[in-house]
Parts: sequence; C-alpha cells; structure tokens
Amino acid sequence: MWSDRRLLELFGIEHPIVLAPMAGFATVELASIVSNAGGLGSIGCATMDPQIATDTIAQLRRLTIKPVSLNFFCHEPAKVDSGRERAWHDRLSPYYRELGIDEATPRPRTDLAPFGSAMCEFIEDARPEVVSFHFGLPAPPLVARIKAVGCRVISSATTVAEARWLEDHGADAVIAQGYEAGGHRGMFLDRDQNRALAAQLGTFELVPQIADAVGVPVIAAGGIADGRGIAAALTLGASATQIGTAFLLCPEAATPPLHRDALRQAHEVGTVVTNVLSGRPARAMVTRLVAELGPLSDAAPDFPLPMGELAPLRAVAERKGSRDFTSIWAGQGAALARELPAKALMQTLVKEAVERLKRVAGG
Ligand SMILES: Cc1cc2nc3c(=O)[nH]c(=O)nc-3n(C[C@H](O)[C@H](O)[C@H](O)COP(=O)(O)O)c2cc1C
Repeated sequence: MWSDRRLLELFGIEHPIVLAPMAGFATVELASIVSNAGGLGSIGCATMDPQIATDTIAQLRRLTIKPVSLNFFCHEPAKVDSGRERAWHDRLSPYYRELGIDEATPRPRTDLAPFGSAMCEFIEDARPEVVSFHFGLPAPPLVARIKAVGCRVISSATTVAEARWLEDHGADAVIAQGYEAGGHRGMFLDRDQNRALAAQLGTFELVPQIADAVGVPVIAAGGIADGRGIAAALTLGASATQIGTAFLLCPEAATPPLHRDALRQAHEVGTVVTNVLSGRPARAMVTRLVAELGPLSDAAPDFPLPMGELAPLRAVAERKGSRDFTSIWAGQGAALARELPAKALMQTLVKEAVERLKRVAGG
C-alpha cells in the first residue's frame, strides 16, 4: 500500500500517520484509536511529572497493544528576569482592571522543567516504542539511556541545519516541521528567535530539502489535514506524516468548547505565529490578546512564563464565554479539520491518501 516502508518498519506501524503529540489535547483515548487504526498515537507529556506520566502510559497500554509515542520538551529553563517580568505584568494590568480582577491576585509562575533524569527513569521503565522531543534533544547521556532500552528517538527540525544536528545527535527519524504547523515551532539552534523565525520554511520547501540532507527517514508536519496533504508529503520525500490540528475536532480530543468554536470559524479568523501566549513562537488563531500585544513582542518573558501571567485573565474571560486570552493553538490547515470520530478520520485519511497516490501514479 505504501511504497516507502522505512518509517513503518522502524516504528512497527501500518500507515504513515503519526498523531502529533499535543500536550493537554491528545488524550489516551485519541492516541489509542490512532495506534489501533495502524498509525502512531502520541501523548504530549511535557507538562506531566513522572507519576502522572506513569499513570498515563498505564491507561494507554490498557487501550492498545500497538506502538505508541511519548513526547517531551527540551527547552532551556526560563531565566529569572524580574525587570522583564514586571514590565509584562504591567502590560497586562489594563486587562486585569477591565475584567475586574484584583491586581494582587497571585499570577502562578509556570516554570516547566525540561526532560531530565527523573523522566528518563520513567522512560526506561515504560519503554514506549517511540520517544519524541520538541526544541532539540536532551543531553547525549540521556539520549543514550533512552536508546539503550530500545526506544526510537525522534524530534522536530525547522531547518536543514536542525535536521542534520538531530541526525548527528542520535535521532532515528526527523520531523520536518513546516511553518504551517500548529503549536510551538520546534526551532532550537538559532538563539535569535526573531531572526530564525523570519527564515522558517513552509512544509512544501522544508520536506524535500531535509529528505535530501539526512539519511534517516523524514516525517512531514505542518498543514497536513487530508489525504491530499499526506500524498503530497510522501511525494516530496517524507516517509510519514505527523498531523495535529486535523485531529482537534475529533470528539476524543480534549479540545475545550471555546477552542472548537474557534476552529469552526477558521475560514474567517486565521492563524499567526505569536510569542505573546507562551514566550516562544507558536502558531495560534488570532485572539484579542494576540492582535493587541503581538503577534510578536520583544517584551514577552521567557517560555513558558507568559502562560502563568495570563492564567487569571483566561479563567475569568472563559467563564464569560470569551476566548480573548485563551491560547487557540492551531495550524494553517485549521479550516480543513473535520468533525469526525478519530477512527473514522484515520480510515478516511488512509483511503484518501491511497486513492490520491494511485491517481498520481496513473493507476
Ligand atoms: C494544539 C496543539 C498542541 C501541540 N502540542 C505539542 C506538544 O506538546 N509537543 C510537540 O512536540 N508538538 C506539539 N504541537 C505541534 C505538533 O507536533 C505538530 O508540529 C503540528 O501539529 C503539525 O502541524 P498541524 O497542526 O498543521 O498538523 C502541537 C500542535 C497543536 C496544534
């Protein structure tokens, strides 16, 4: 059915479709359905501690015996910069006043630990078939420990240089994350994020360039939402695809109602890459906060501190039914997302892609 079987054999899966890890959105139910349908189900574990991750994989293993992927972040921890944090705090103050939130309300500090030794111990016990990273890879001894227990290691590249770096540092496959992708840009090599952002390539350009540059299989990500996109990515040299936004409207996803409503309006609202929601460039739908303070701001504190500052605003606004301060992560393909149960979506994606590839081959 699929002519390039490299990634299928590497992961032990049937179809070249990876459910994108989406921390907080991709549930164990959704991941298990994708794995049971022959794809690779992923769980975003970036915000979990090892105990929660242990419970999560136990639930997942009860729902599927097929290969699964667990995903972690390798960002640099936020630096303490009280001047900058104060300035950001002041920038948000008018919104606090507008929503009648006491300025003294504690704004949670949302530090997020990158993947470290404790999580690595969990991986050594849990042994998911695939361990996926965003923002680079952990230190070489940690990568060695993961590989020593037989897990395949993958990570996102947004440039050819990042893809080569990942291959050189032990990645078994590289995710080519085009500019269309929803959620955080996986960019990690250039410390000047604005400069790096200005040079980011779309999936159509990135996939063939990375496929030419590395020896390991390439997984295309960004803007792939139907069989046409899958067939295009495979034709461009990818061995598989990673799809996120297109699964957000599945009933099994944990996408909140306000987020679902926004996705249904994707034709009118559109997405941008913004750093004001989290401190790192990420693609999200345009909301009031993004329009007024962004999309890009030099004032945003380090990832992921803005999330804590926004939490009280978000909570109050959401209670009033407003998504003004909510992070509506979505890719440029949001308007193509279909409201189908995950199993039906997987079957549709496979069928559409196979038909399209046959047509291209003149079969
Ligand atoms: C809601 C959402 C959450 C995401 N969370 C993560 C995550 O936790 N880890 C990760 O590696 N990538 C995350 N991503 C990015 C995906 O891995 C992938 O690059 C992207 O979904 C592909 O583009 P698409 O959304 O157009 O399909 C997220 C994307 C979305 C839309």
